[in-house]
Formats: sequence, structure tokens, C-alpha cells
Amino acid sequence: MPSSDTSHPKTNFLKKVFSEVPKTYERINHVLTLGLDVLWRRQAARIAAASGGTRWADMCTGTGEMACYLSRLAASGTVIHAVDFSMPMMAEAMKKPEARNIDFVVSDVKALPFPDESLDLITISFATRNINLSSDILTHTFAEFCRVLKPGGRFVNLETSQPSSLLLKKLFRFYVRLLVKFVGKLISGSHSGYAYLAHTIPRFYPPKELSDIMCRAGFKNVTYRKLLFGVAAIHQGMKP
Ligand SMILES: C[S@@+](CC[C@H](N)C(=O)[O-])C[C@H]1O[C@@H](n2cnc3c(N)ncnc32)[C@H](O)[C@@H]1O
Repeated sequence: MPSSDTSHPKTNFLKKVFSEVPKTYERINHVLTLGLDVLWRRQAARIAAASGGTRWADMCTGTGEMACYLSRLAASGTVIHAVDFSMPMMAEAMKKPEARNIDFVVSDVKALPFPDESLDLITISFATRNINLSSDILTHTFAEFCRVLKPGGRFVNLETSQPSSLLLKKLFRFYVRLLVKFVGKLISGSHSGYAYLAHTIPRFYPPKELSDIMCRAGFKNVTYRKLLFGVAAIHQGMKP
């Protein structure tokens, strides 16, 4: 599929960050979450796959872990697109055995190269913080997801969140400040990448606020479940 891009001053910074980390990206996630990121992606993939349909897309697929889980759960004949604007990240995804069942699309997810009402399912994991350049841009991007979904199509979003307990929130922020920058830089060598990650996690929306943004973008029946006391959350919504 062709590439499309939308220009925002941060886009080049993000592309640079994600060109520095692909080789170590998965290992760092597993270390920082003690392997929980794998369980959470699998759980989100199971929820997503249960909605059925024959044309699915994983947005901001990165090294393709979510797209690979989806491909293992998909009925035969299901087309799975994996979309990202970073070729270095997708190059890692393309090395995986499941990649032969996946259609990789180089695109900015803010302007998707899919026709209106053409997809049954959209997933995104641990990338919504990256498209949250402002709440307006995030709403616009979710509206773009809504545009390409068929009526009744599902959107499943897995992302870090904010624990509601003040004590847990403080502990979570302390852990992120202390470890994410340090371990990320140590293993990947990318200071800016993991400084950025550590910056975005504590500033992301609590689950109810993210639900409200999904509703503003046009999704209905928006629900969420908290993971590990709200450290992360899986949101789902339906295109009306
Ligand atoms: C933190 S990684 C998440 C990768 C993967 N989804 C996962 O579960 O680990 C974020 C990915 O989003 C991609 N990305 C960020 N903004 C994007 C945009 N506007 N359009 C397309 N891809 C984007 C980056 O290139 C990167 O591969």
C-alpha cells in the first residue's frame, strides 16, 4: 500500500526515536514490565479477535507483536494489515514467522490509506501516547479510525493508564522516573527515546478521560478494564 504522511513538528522526532530502538525494543518492554506487556497484549488480542470479521488492522504496529497475536487467532481468510510510519520498527516485525500472513502498510495513522467503512477491527497497543500530540490530534486520529471501520466494527486500545489510588499513582511515577530512562538508555543506547517515554507515561489520560475522547471521536458503547490496579487499561468501542 502507498505511504501517506501528515506533517507535525514532532513527527520527525518520533521517527528518529523509533529508528534508534527497534533491536532492543521488545527486550526492554519485557524487562520494564516483568513480562506483563506480553500477557496484556495477548489479552487485548483475544478481546479484539472475538469480535470477528475478515479485515483487521493493527495501528502503530512497531515490531508487530500485536499483529502476530492477531494472526494466530484469526480465522482463515482474514486479512491483517499492520500500519506504522517507522520502517526500522516494521523491519523487525517482518522477520517474524507470522509476517507472511500480514500486509505491512507504511503510513502515518493520522491519515490512513483505507477507504471509508472497509475494516472490521482496529487495534493499537502502547502507541496511543505517541499519537497524543494534543488531545485534538488524538481525537482526530481516533475519528480517522472510526472513518475506516465498518458500522459495528470494533476498536481495541491497550495503553498505560493512571492508577486511581494516589499512593499507587505516586509509586508508579517513581518507578517510571527511576527505571524507564535508566534501563531504556542502558539497553538501547537511546537517551532521547526513553526520556520521551518516561515523560509521556505520567502525563497520559486516566481511563475515563480516554473513554471520553473515544466517544468524542464517534465511538459508541465505550468500555474499559483496568490492568494491574490501573497501571494499564484496555478500552473498547464500536463504530455506530
Ligand atoms: C511504543 S511503539 C508500540 C509498538 C507496538 N504497537 C507495541 O505494542 O509494542 C510505538 C509505535 O508507533 C509508531 N508511531 C508513532 N506515531 C505514529 C503515527 N502517527 N503513525 C504511524 N505510526 C506511528 C512508531 O513508529 C512505533 O513503531
